[in-house]
Amino acid sequence: GAQPPPPAINDTSSKLVFDDAHPYEPARPGDIRGPCPGLNTLASHGYLDRSGIATPGEIITAVQEGFNMGWDLAAFVTYAAFVVDGNHLTNLLSIGEKTPETGPDAPAPAIIGGLNTHGAFEGDASTTRDDFALGNNFLFNETLFDQVSISSGDRLWVNGTLDITSAAVHRHNRILDSMARNPNFTFTTPRYLTAYAETTFPLAFFVSHQKSDTSLSLGLDDARSFLQNNKFPDGFYRRNGSYGLTEVFAPFPDVLPGKNEGVGNYVVDPEDPGFNGGGLCYAYYKQSNLTLAMYPDPTDELRTALQQNMASFYSALGDPTCEEVFPFGQ
Ligand code: HEM
Ligand code: MG
Repeated sequence: GAQPPPPAINDTSSKLVFDDAHPYEPARPGDIRGPCPGLNTLASHGYLDRSGIATPGEIITAVQEGFNMGWDLAAFVTYAAFVVDGNHLTNLLSIGEKTPETGPDAPAPAIIGGLNTHGAFEGDASTTRDDFALGNNFLFNETLFDQVSISSGDRLWVNGTLDITSAAVHRHNRILDSMARNPNFTFTTPRYLTAYAETTFPLAFFVSHQKSDTSLSLGLDDARSFLQNNKFPDGFYRRNGSYGLTEVFAPFPDVLPGKNEGVGNYVVDPEDPGFNGGGLCYAYYKQSNLTLAMYPDPTDELRTALQQNMASFYSALGDPTCEEVFPFGQ
């Protein structure tokens, strides 16, 4: 059943994480990988169960251990996804497709579809995965990876490296592309926040410590190792010190939250604060409402699990200025 989140790890120094205890093994038939290169890599090295099925607690610990993601960011992202994509009764989440391996489902309209589920947490304008309406929303896409350098005026892989300016340009170009081609393009919280945050993740997490001392730039081969092959580069050291909610920044959030009403007709959502204050609370309220829509009338055990997981989600906000909500009672 549901558990409170595990504590923060104590030692956030850099260390070798591609060590003897965590060898790379390719996914076996039946092992699940999905839209997140971070979680995929952790599963390929045994920081997460190699099946790709995990509890929220296991995910929160693994992203700290393997990458030094800060506890607050880890808990926030994990519960924002788990409440809408996970199985509350068995406490299991698929990091990719829907699977019976997460246990018996609660009745519809609960989806329990894993991280691949479009529009619950996964969303549009990803950098190496296609929009759901245009293609595959969880598999690495070589064309997108390559087109980056073209669409950004050859600024992305300058001399074979990614820097923050290039990553921001790429983010912007992916948004423009979705506006122009995807009639269903949706770019509202939480996807709005995760899209801009994820732009910084390769630079924050995929640069081996020795290299990150001097510059925030990521080599093309190392980027491909994570994004395509779900593998730590040889001798990979995690970053020194955690990267959490207070560290995350959004490079040039130049588009306001909104969605397409037909291709090329992007309409801003005036309710959505985006990064203009209270965005995390707004994300928490939105996920709470979506969870309630999926579980309109849960019975005993399920209700208790939903209450616990919503409380865990709120705890990730730390000392927030927003009120806790109790969609399933207290
Ligand atoms: C994307 C979940 C942690 C790196 C995603 C996506 C999901 C996800 C659902 C797809 C969103 C989309 O692009 O539409 C999670 C969860 C985490 C987590 C639940 C738990 C804490 C991490 C960590 C890293 C990471 C620790 C890096 C080490 C990324 C990157 C993308 C991404 C770079 C963007 C991929 C792209 O744009 O093609 N994550 N993630 N994530 N995640 Fe994670
Ligand atoms: Mg996506």
